[in-house]
Amino acid sequence: MFKIILPDQSTVPLLPDQDGEVSGDFSHPVFQQNGVVDLLGQDDASAELTARHYDLQWNREIDFLSFLKGNPEVLRYMPSGQLGWPELIGRIRAQAKDRRTLVYDAACGYGGLFTQLFAAPIPQGLGYLGADIHANLADIERPDGASHARAHFVRWDISRPLPIVEKFDYVICRNALMHTADPKVTLRSLMESVAPGGTIAVSVYARKALLREMLDDALRERITKMSSKDAFSLAHQFSCLGRDLQQSIGSIMIKEDLPFFGMRAGQYGIQEFIYQYMLKCWYNQIFGEKYSDIVNFDWYHPPYAHRFAKNEILDLFQELGLHVVREESIPAQHYVEASRVGCQTE
Ligand SMILES: C[S@@+](CC[C@H](N)C(=O)[O-])C[C@H]1O[C@@H](n2cnc3c(N)ncnc32)[C@H](O)[C@@H]1O
Repeated sequence: MFKIILPDQSTVPLLPDQDGEVSGDFSHPVFQQNGVVDLLGQDDASAELTARHYDLQWNREIDFLSFLKGNPEVLRYMPSGQLGWPELIGRIRAQAKDRRTLVYDAACGYGGLFTQLFAAPIPQGLGYLGADIHANLADIERPDGASHARAHFVRWDISRPLPIVEKFDYVICRNALMHTADPKVTLRSLMESVAPGGTIAVSVYARKALLREMLDDALRERITKMSSKDAFSLAHQFSCLGRDLQQSIGSIMIKEDLPFFGMRAGQYGIQEFIYQYMLKCWYNQIFGEKYSDIVNFDWYHPPYAHRFAKNEILDLFQELGLHVVREESIPAQHYVEASRVGCQTE
């Protein structure tokens, strides 16, 4: 269904179920293994630390997808299950019922959006390409009918233009733009894959209150230097702190707004106040310790974690000439959806 663009601008089809060498004409040999085409090869230095982080986070032993499938109610607590995402998935599936609809899932992670897009009954016209840099793409479980012929995975750095001929009706990048070195460069690359009149949707971290931002930065400074294994084991202390603060009896009353600290007047639970204004120490009983650790590990360890005020992410879209059609925010994240109508490409 998709064709790869080689450096000399010739093209080669992405063939399903044909593991082996796809092409020797890239800057390195391109191999397909277990249905995943590795377009990066060893050439992944720019995002290597990010890749090492997510190699652990999305590995088979953690199996985040099975956890979500077994506990669908947890999406309520995650920005992924909020904002414009559920509605967008519904819209894509509705359109793909009777029309060829191509989706580029940039930084597809553990396959969360893939699983939702291909939930039964699979829309007839849906075609999918998921790209990410981590090493576990082949482990993503395919829903029945999401065959290799209609759903491809490639290992690719999404900050670079996707070397695929086809343009996509939907380019979706949930919760990942901020994990790339330069989000504007990445957004521009993503934009290049949107078909005329197509849609691009992203969600990014929102900027938090002053003390929380300062502490987050100071902690990241230390934690990003750790190995994935050490940082994951450290994340447990953040979960324990969150758990114990949640169980601590009492409340905090702030009598008036304190704009310098970004604090709103009101009554807060102890953990709620510390979490919102000072320190991410996430804990949720349904996630338990293991998956609460994952949430804290995901916050502190990836090397890039840009945060945006709402106007900053909207400005980015505007600078690239993208026409924003939907925007929505929660304290944790912003969601922006835009259409590609007469936007600049340079
Ligand atoms: C928080 S996860 C979000 C995964 C998925 N989009 C979702 O919402 O379920 C961030 C993902 O971005 C990927 N990522 C970060 N930088 C990347 C890059 N430069 N190229 C490709 N993927 C990248 C990570 O490997 C990880 O899977």
